[in-house]
Amino acid sequence: MIKILFLLVIFSIPVSWVHADNQKVAIASAHPLATAAGFEIIAKGGNVYDAAVAVSAALAVVEPFGSGLGGGAYWLLHREKDKLDVVIDGREKAPLAADKDMYLDKNGKVIPKLSLDGALAAAIPGMPAGLVHLSEKYGRLTLADNLAPAVRYAKTGFAIGDRYLRNLKVRVDTIKQYPETARIYLNKEQNLPELYSILRQPDLADTLINIAQHGRDGFYKGEVADKLVTSVAKAGGIWTQADLDAYQVIERNPVVGNYKGIKVTSVPPSSSGGIALIETLNILAAYDLQALPKLTRKHLIVEAMRRAYHDRSLYLGDGDFISIPVERLLNMDYAAGLRSAIRFDKALSSDQLSGQIESQHQGTNTTHFSIIDQEGNRVAATLSINFIFGSAFVASGTGVVLNDEMDDFDSQPGAMNVYGLVGGIANAIAPSKRMLSSMTPTFLETDKEVAVLGTPGGSRIISMVLLAALNFAEGKGPETWVNLPRFHHQFMPDVIEYEPAALSEDEINTLKQMGHQLKEVPRPYGDMQAVLLNKHAKFLSAASDKRGEGTAQVSQ
Ligand code: DON
Repeated sequence: MIKILFLLVIFSIPVSWVHADNQKVAIASAHPLATAAGFEIIAKGGNVYDAAVAVSAALAVVEPFGSGLGGGAYWLLHREKDKLDVVIDGREKAPLAADKDMYLDKNGKVIPKLSLDGALAAAIPGMPAGLVHLSEKYGRLTLADNLAPAVRYAKTGFAIGDRYLRNLKVRVDTIKQYPETARIYLNKEQNLPELYSILRQPDLADTLINIAQHGRDGFYKGEVADKLVTSVAKAGGIWTQADLDAYQVIERNPVVGNYKGIKVTSVPPSSSGGIALIETLNILAAYDLQALPKLTRKHLIVEAMRRAYHDRSLYLGDGDFISIPVERLLNMDYAAGLRSAIRFDKALSSDQLSGQIESQHQGTNTTHFSIIDQEGNRVAATLSINFIFGSAFVASGTGVVLNDEMDDFDSQPGAMNVYGLVGGIANAIAPSKRMLSSMTPTFLETDKEVAVLGTPGGSRIISMVLLAALNFAEGKGPETWVNLPRFHHQFMPDVIEYEPAALSEDEINTLKQMGHQLKEVPRPYGDMQAVLLNKHAKFLSAASDKRGEGTAQVSQ
């Protein structure tokens, strides 16, 4: 019975809502209730940016393991009337008291888990400031209107599904160490709740209401801020009110590339996503990939990934703190130089660094949604608290799960983070610095079409968006991009990771003969959400990754 009710709620979302200007809208998000929240706001007269606020906030409630008020996000926007392209960088920042050696023991060794679990792993959240900024600067409805669906989901609750439970299971042992988190997400016996049981988050509803009423001060000042600072301090963290006062989102110009006539617009640092994506595409641009044998194509894509991820680890970090050679990295001649060292018949090993670490759980923590209307106004947003259930720490009485985004810094040059990424001083910890991200919300545009896409998946985000972009370039539609079998190389560890269906036995053997190391990942990864506008026909389509439970819909 409960299952039937759950399915009824999930599948009875009306799709007959239209934009106030009679524009149809397409929304793809990782959860049916988040997509529904977006359409609810469109029906109220909201524009795509209002809908983006509603979807972001709803995801914070229905996917507390993936993103939330305690985390950060990048929103990539396009506004058609003045052709504005802008990124709202709502990435978390290191606390003022952070120190480059804060996760090292006295012998200079990384203390395992310290940057992943508990209050010391949490950076200053950007999500609340981002929601307020997006709503007030770009929306037409009030912030309270846009947060209303999320408040309702938090208050009245929603039925938890399989995916929720799978994520909870991964972190249950850690969550048990934090009584406030356990109180909210585990049952009375401190175990996993039943499938389809109702999760209510009244404290989170109150925090959302505070933000709805007081804007950014509803989170960064007053009652909520007091609770955050006090409870973080009690648990060994280093946040102060000064950190919360100082947090600002930053509007940035996107990075832009051109791959065979496709305009690629994506996020600049503090994410590595846009630069690494465009650099990879630039390396590949001189090949006629479609004319090449499938295996050669995959080999070349891997070699291009290897080089772009190498540059990621050498040069990328928060551009407000370090100097990044952006122009060089995006330059076609630079890409040609990298390409000239690629052989068609042989892998070149990433041998500068040694050691391999299991990069695990790059599944569906973190989240993405894509929205577009018939005019081409659009939002691509990737939102995160980093690892599953972030730091697993909830600040008492706030309902806010704090991120563990500090792990995205390089605690020590050459040390690998939870996604197996290595980096250096460019991404070292410093007070108020943003940690390097891989999030890659992206637009792909030709004369005929415009696509909006992105996905969670840690370090693999960039390679997933790359494979989707190459598929778009082959003329395929969103349903195909989001469900493509995936393979990945990130320079270090020097291995091609692939989903079970992504490579045939023959391909695996030949790639090995060419000098590649390969590893099948234990489970599929990513949760891509994409929408597409055919500009001439004004035709919209949308697709949600079959690996997840999201819904993609076009209003009728
Ligand atoms: O910003 C980043 O790159 C990571 N914190 C994203 C983490 C993520 O996508 C987890 N995914 N499943």
